[in-house]
Amino acid sequence: MEGHAGAYELIWSAESLSRELLAPLPSRMLHTEGVASTAVALARTVAVEDRPVLIAAAWLHDVGYAPRLQSTGFHPLDGARHLESLGWRPEICALVAHHSGARFVASLRELGEDLRTFEFTENALTDALTVADQTSGPCGEPLTLDERMRNMLRRHGPRSLNARAHARREPYFRSAWARVATRLLSIDDVVVDAPIAV
Ligand SMILES: [Fe+2]
Repeated sequence: MEGHAGAYELIWSAESLSRELLAPLPSRMLHTEGVASTAVALARTVAVEDRPVLIAAAWLHDVGYAPRLQSTGFHPLDGARHLESLGWRPEICALVAHHSGARFVASLRELGEDLRTFEFTENALTDALTVADQTSGPCGEPLTLDERMRNMLRRHGPRSLNARAHARREPYFRSAWARVATRLLSIDDVVVDAPIAV
């Protein structure tokens, strides 16, 4: 397991890099702050050793929007490639590459193969990152999943690739949300069932 010092360094490095790269995009930075805060709140749904990775990935998930990183124009891939070039650990690059069902949009952009160079996994960590992203609004405000999806479809427009991918992404978002909620409830059960000291 990562020690406290290692976890602190990882999270601090991620936040610093995110703030540097997203400095030209203040609202994207606000959204990222919201995602990072929500990731902290959801951290107990993932294994203890994965918690710093979740929070670091939350800080970094949208760095691909940074103007100087634009290459393919697909932010999960541009961000992940940049992080890989800087030597960030593969699991964080993969989380950034695949966050929020990026694969569904990548296939419409014919970037599916490029995205698959980053390992795809689906687990508590990817669920928590997706839910943190999909419940944080464009300026970091907390939104329900439905509000966030409506907002996204309005911003991108009905003919956008995001709209075209939505039929496949929406069930993924809803199932990730339900899995995260179930994990949170099962944690609370342990607390409620604990013997009360008198
Ligand atoms: Fe995001």
